[in-house]
Amino acid sequence: MSELITTHSLGKTYGSRTVVQNLDLRVPEGCVYGFLGPNGSGKSTTMKMLLSLVRPTSGEVHIMGRRMQRSTRRDLLGEIGSLIEAPPAYAHLTGRENMRLVQRLLDLGNGQVNRAVQIVRLQNHLDKRVLDYSLGMKQRLGIAMALAREPRLLILDEPTNGLDPAGIEEMRHLLTQLADGGTTVMVSSHLLGEIDRTATVLGILSNGHMLFQGTREQLFDRSVPDVLIDTPAPERAAALAARWSANRDGDRVRIPGLDHATTAQVVAHLVNERVAIHGVRREEQSLEDVFMDLTGGRGL
Ligand SMILES: Nc1ncnc2c1ncn2[C@@H]1O[C@H](COP(=O)(O)OP(=O)(O)OP(=O)(O)O)[C@@H](O)[C@H]1O
Ligand SMILES: [Mg+2]
Repeated sequence: MSELITTHSLGKTYGSRTVVQNLDLRVPEGCVYGFLGPNGSGKSTTMKMLLSLVRPTSGEVHIMGRRMQRSTRRDLLGEIGSLIEAPPAYAHLTGRENMRLVQRLLDLGNGQVNRAVQIVRLQNHLDKRVLDYSLGMKQRLGIAMALAREPRLLILDEPTNGLDPAGIEEMRHLLTQLADGGTTVMVSSHLLGEIDRTATVLGILSNGHMLFQGTREQLFDRSVPDVLIDTPAPERAAALAARWSANRDGDRVRIPGLDHATTAQVVAHLVNERVAIHGVRREEQSLEDVFMDLTGGRGL
């Protein structure tokens, strides 16, 4: 898979404060890349560096294989749609008037504008003034404005901020739909669960450095979930597996934080001791649980 964004040791320092350090982003083409991290971890600063809105203190940004610099900037930015922080629309104008401004500015065709409006499903709200829009509608208009140029890459900073659950669900659906249509989407959130199932690749930022980057599967592989063993003899099984901190948990035995190799060892030991085993499974983990494991229980 080719990468649409790569950075090499990207860093940003304000005065004596390093807010982003040694960042090696790898954003594969055609994915939804979830850029996650708590407030102040450096997500917006990173996205602004990708867009040349903030000058990096160190490192390089490559977009579509070309280094972002003065001579390439205009070309590269022409391929990127973005929505950073507040939606960019003029509140006293209607949705349609805002779209028309974008159309003129970028010299776009009617077809491009209509397509963008339809993707975000605003076609029936275009004659309202933006100040009468709901927050979700403003976000969608911001995305339509970013989409109108048919960018290969879309960079969205916290597009779910402030949305209600239905609005968040709609945004997830929209992002997946865009990626299915071939647009690479990089989207940030400070809430781990918000885009976790939408994103196929995750980058997790903590204090300006990358804690993890890879697919959801790779992330979950790194985690050490509890193992649950169903057995008609939970008391005996728990005693036999005491050295792995096993506990009886109702009709089964729970063993905390077991990797694959140790799980196999425990099962072999129990079978050897003639414990009947009816089932072995890993407890399903949320993204939050996995992060707790990654950070040694400190959270982000
Ligand atoms: N222009 C600036 N001057 C000084 N410090 C800044 C500047 N911009 C950002 N910072 C600091 O850099 C750190 C990272 O900020 P950034 O906005 O990138 O975080 P974030 O991950 O986007 O947070 P949030 O989830 O709140 O949006 C913060 O501590 C912030 O105070
Ligand atoms: Mg931010």
